[in-house]
Amino acid sequence: MASHTYVATLKDSTTVFKNDIFQGKILFCTGGGSGICRGMTEAVMRHGADAVIVGRKLDRLTQTAKELSAATGRTCIPAQADVRQPKMLQEAVNKTIERFGKIDFVICGAAGNFLAPISGLSENAFKTVMEIDTLGTFNTIKATIPHVRQSKGSYIHVSATLHYKATPYQVHVSSAKAAVDALSAVLAVEEGPHGVRSNVIAPGPIGGTEGMQRLSNIADGNSSRLPLGRVGDIKDVANATVFLFSEAASYITGQVVVVDGAMEHMRHFQ
Ligand code: HXC
Repeated sequence: MASHTYVATLKDSTTVFKNDIFQGKILFCTGGGSGICRGMTEAVMRHGADAVIVGRKLDRLTQTAKELSAATGRTCIPAQADVRQPKMLQEAVNKTIERFGKIDFVICGAAGNFLAPISGLSENAFKTVMEIDTLGTFNTIKATIPHVRQSKGSYIHVSATLHYKATPYQVHVSSAKAAVDALSAVLAVEEGPHGVRSNVIAPGPIGGTEGMQRLSNIADGNSSRLPLGRVGDIKDVANATVFLFSEAASYITGQVVVVDGAMEHMRHFQ
């Protein structure tokens, strides 16, 4: 087999935070095997945390865990689970507790996406995305909350900006992410008295991700017309993640942090 040359998701260290702010912390991240959630995991690990990444594809998770451990000098382990299956998630949580003894941070990031008009979307297709994104988030919260209460920890849910306006061919994802935003807010209010925080990160178009590739034929690819002159980068979401999990955000809960370079505010003129 050819030797694998690792290229970190976060190509350079652009952090403005101290390197050790998450020393001794444990992250549990669904969807951490690739894309944005992999970058979020890497950033948290670069600041001292160990991590468990959860997903359906064990091969990919195992490879990613190896790469993240090598890149950060911390420990990352894979746990195979479909977020639609509470039993599998509970096993992933058990594995985390056996290995690390606690959970401080949770990223609910597992998501499904494809383009389809309402007229071409089957009941099962709609249900599948609702189950991965919304029910999967609920299941992850249920499986982790006893441990997050104990550590007075924090959740970040990965949502989107698709549902702020009507995004064609995305009724399933828009519905699912609107529900994720609602779940997070209720979690923040209910669990605040236990010292638990819950926030949402809503990325806009982020370059080099599967979601962006899938949506590229409905998005305007001319980045010079964007407010900041570029699409987002995984490190933009990663830096927001470090901030929200950090003590600097200790009074920020129940919020949606939009990481989209003001794209949602922009009016398009022909
Ligand atoms: C119409 C489709 C479809 C498509 C699947 N289905 N793909 N319908 N168009 N392109 C339908 C199937 O026909 C089936 O319905 C139902 O969905 C379930 O499909 P399965 O393949 O059996 O389900 P499953 O393997 O569980 O999951 C499939 C999947 C998932 C949801 C498509 O593999 C997936 O989304 N993977 C991509 C992950 C991804 O891209 N993540 C990044 C998300 S980014 P029937 O009726 O035939 O049984 C994101 C934010 C975007 O969400 C924001 C960007 C700005």
